[in-house]
Amino acid sequence: MADMVTFTIDGRSIEAPAGTTILEAAKGANILIPNLCHNEELAPYGACRMCMVETTHKKRTKLVVSCIAEASEGLEVRTDTERVRNVRTLVMHLLLARNPNHPVLKKMAAELGIEKSRFDVDFKGCIMCGQCVRVCREVVGVSAIGFESRGPARKIATPFNESPAACIACGSCHYVCPVGVIPMEEHDGVRTIWKTDFPMAKCSKCGKYFAPVKQLEYFRKLVDLPADHFDTCIDCRSIKK
Ligand code: FES
Repeated sequence: MADMVTFTIDGRSIEAPAGTTILEAAKGANILIPNLCHNEELAPYGACRMCMVETTHKKRTKLVVSCIAEASEGLEVRTDTERVRNVRTLVMHLLLARNPNHPVLKKMAAELGIEKSRFDVDFKGCIMCGQCVRVCREVVGVSAIGFESRGPARKIATPFNESPAACIACGSCHYVCPVGVIPMEEHDGVRTIWKTDFPMAKCSKCGKYFAPVKQLEYFRKLVDLPADHFDTCIDCRSIKK
């Protein structure tokens, strides 16, 4: 059995396996710490800084990124101090300057008492949480997109801003984006994503277009299943023969 650590969050005693991040432990105890770039399917990343908390250990108090920092024996965590609120407030003003209208951000902003950014809006849409790049690399395993440039010009892009050769059009980046800025469309048997058209395959049973041909080819190579397994859509696959 994993070693356990006992620590407190906002005065409440919590037990968690050693190595658990503060954010995960808080989640397990139904304590909400706001976060935007955390995704339990992905490796800790610490980009957005919304999840900052204050910790005290051996009389030393500091601000830490709770999605990366691990809980440890005797640690005291506070999720709502003045310092914490100040950091979150600054982060939210910066995020709203990039994307002032998305409901997820507006709701989080309202919880901090913020209506609009105190900075000039320079609309980018993307909040640089990096979930799209990470899901593509860590879960799908194709690394079709990545970060480009540095500083304020940093953005998510395809290599050389061209049609991404490695993309299988699975749509994972589109689905994982918390602010919905990666467009994906389907029309007449074609899925369009990253400004590229991908033909879809038709289910051999019901005739419905169900997945991009390239995605199915990728899965066929990846898993050891009968050759015809990916000829049918999920609905038809789940109907017993
Ligand atoms: S959720 Fe921790 S830095 Fe984004």
